[in-house]
This record gives sequence, structure tokens and C-alpha cells, in this order.
Amino acid sequence: MQIIAKGHDEYYPYEPPPLPEYDVSPSLKKLVLKFIGTMLINFLIAGACALAMRIIQTDVHLRSLAHINVPDNVLFYSLLTSHGQVMFFGVLSFNTIWFSYYAVSKWGRKPLASMKLARASFWIMEIAVVLLFLDTVFHFGSGWYNLMPLTFLRLL
Ligand code: HEM
Repeated sequence: MQIIAKGHDEYYPYEPPPLPEYDVSPSLKKLVLKFIGTMLINFLIAGACALAMRIIQTDVHLRSLAHINVPDNVLFYSLLTSHGQVMFFGVLSFNTIWFSYYAVSKWGRKPLASMKLARASFWIMEIAVVLLFLDTVFHFGSGWYNLMPLTFLRLL
């Protein structure tokens, strides 16, 4: 510990002592892992939607293979909408949320204000993501930013 000058209050060291290590709570760690795991599942399903879009554009008749009775363009645009929206909300937003919870607690050096609300946010987000996947089931194909007036047009 370096003292600035003789006679000076030796209680004011030049370098502050290192802060003791702080670890996030086990319940927050569990929630963060749940976010990451679910984000990866969302990514794989939304990625599969994108690959299906590219297959539709080939000579492979995906619709007859999958017994889907909607025109190619309807299937393509509803897959595109699901893909873009789920990648945005189910992947990017999920990563932003769990990292914020972790960073605020880890580097804020205290537990989150409410783990109950944090857990609720996971379920609210994931239910919303499942609803976004229903875009494809209900042939909603307005693109990931719900381009007007496509939102109000029935594709079928
Ligand atoms: C598995 C990895 C991915 C594949 C194979 C993939 C593939 C595609 C394809 C084929 C399109 C359609 C392009 C077109 O013909 O218009 C597309 C659009 C898009 N992708 Fe991806 N993508 C992937 C990952 C991502 C990720 C990680 C994000 C964002 C976080 C993302 C966001 C979007 C958005 C926003 C659109 C535009 C949707 C729209 O126009 O409504 N994609 N992607």
C-alpha cells in the first residue's frame, strides 16, 4: 500500500483494495441458462423456417411432401414473417434480456429487484414467440415489420 506523504492520514491508501468477488444467485444462473437454452431452440426452429423458404424456391415440392395445401407464395411469406420476427424477438431480444439480468446483478453486485418478475418475463417472452410461430400456421405473411397494408390482407 503506497502512502502519499509522511504524516498524511495513512488511512487513505493510494490504490483502493480489490473488491471481493461477487457471484450471481443460483436461481438467476438457472434462469439465465433457461433463457440461453430456449434461445437456441428458437434459433434452430426459425433457422429451419428460413431453410424451408429456400427449399420452396427450388424444384423440390415441399408443399406436396409436407401435405400443405397453400400456394407457394403464401407459405414463403408466412415462413419469412415467422423467421424474421422470431430471430428478432426469440433470439436477439432473448440474448439482450438474459445478459442484462446477468450484468446488472454481477457488476451491480446485488441481486435483481424481483426474481419472480424476471421468471415471469421469460414465460411472457416465450409465449409471445410461440404465437409468432403461429404466423406460418395462420398464413400471416406481412414480413417481420408487419408491413402495412399487408397486415390487413388475407393471403388466402
Ligand atoms: C440459421 C441462420 C439463418 C438463415 C439460414 C437465414 C436465412 C434467411 C433467408 C433465406 C431470408 C429471406 C431473404 C429473402 O429472400 O428475402 C432471411 C430473412 C431475414 N432474416 Fe434470416 N437467416 C438466418 C438467421 C437470421 C438471424 C440470426 C436473424 C436476426 C437476428 C435473421 C433475421 C432475418 C430478417 C429480419 C429477415 C427479413 C424478414 C422479412 O423480410 O420479413 N436471420 N433470412
